Amino acid sequence: MTHPLKTVLVTGATAGFGHAIALRLVKDGFRVIATGRRLERLDALAKEAGENLLPFQLDMTDLDAVKALPGSLPQGWQQVDVLINNAGLALGLEKAWETKPADWEQMIATNVTGLVEITRALLPGMVERNAGHVISLGSTAGIYPYPGANVYGATKAFVDQFMRNLRSDLLGKQVRATNIAPGLCGGSEFSQVRLGDDAKAAAFYDKTKPLLPEDIAETVAWVLKLPPHVNINQIEMMPTCQASAGLAVDRSMA
Ligand SMILES: NC(=O)c1ccc[n+]([C@@H]2O[C@H](COP(=O)([O-])OP(=O)(O)OC[C@H]3O[C@@H](n4cnc5c(N)ncnc54)[C@H](OP(=O)(O)O)[C@@H]3O)[C@@H](O)[C@H]2O)c1
Repeated sequence: MTHPLKTVLVTGATAGFGHAIALRLVKDGFRVIATGRRLERLDALAKEAGENLLPFQLDMTDLDAVKALPGSLPQGWQQVDVLINNAGLALGLEKAWETKPADWEQMIATNVTGLVEITRALLPGMVERNAGHVISLGSTAGIYPYPGANVYGATKAFVDQFMRNLRSDLLGKQVRATNIAPGLCGGSEFSQVRLGDDAKAAAFYDKTKPLLPEDIAETVAWVLKLPPHVNINQIEMMPTCQASAGLAVDRSMA
């Protein structure tokens, strides 16, 4: 491979998008540091991907561990050229006043604080080398509100604006910043984690043809392989069976 950016760190590579992205990028010739909390999943991924994938256990809410990067990575893996901020979660679909405070805290700690801190840990190296790329997984939930998205949607709106602001700071540097905002996506653990119930999660995708993790991996691979003078700022993507279809009106008050 002739791509100048060689080593990619993917957060949340134990399932869903991150897993598919890690496998795809190894196939495309990158060296991939695959992170997440479940080490056995990372080890299985490493077996599947081969020597160009390094499994590295990392909890995004353990800020000491996040801030210790890249120095805590093994020798030969400390130069991270590309950061893929994928780890994240939604918890619950309750109305704002019915949610558990701990769920909001967990979403903010992972989707916002963890993402910001790992970016802060790895960005200086990219700027110093004047080469790099930060790709974050936002969501259409950060663009279009829907009932029950409350803090989850707000964390993803944060990701969108954080990435746009990074672009402003990075003007003049050969470091790119991209936000990918998908809509309905199946084939991952997202809805099981959100709803805590396999049957409810399966029903969520009933009679739909959602995006798949491989579609997200394909998009990441494309964004990355564009020539260095091309920066994709934001990609909003949905399955064809989904659209933003108008504002809701409550007609019970007249
Ligand atoms: N699926 C969708 O419909 C959809 C749509 C738009 C955006 N997204 C976003 O895309 C990203 C990936 O979603 P997905 O569908 O692939 O979900 P997923 O299958 O549930 O995967 C989430 C990944 O994040 C990791 N993770 C969660 N909390 C973590 C923590 N504290 N520390 C480290 N890793 C953590 C999980 O690993 P461990 O549990 O092993 O730590 C897992 O690998 C998320 O940011 C999500 O918000 C998803």
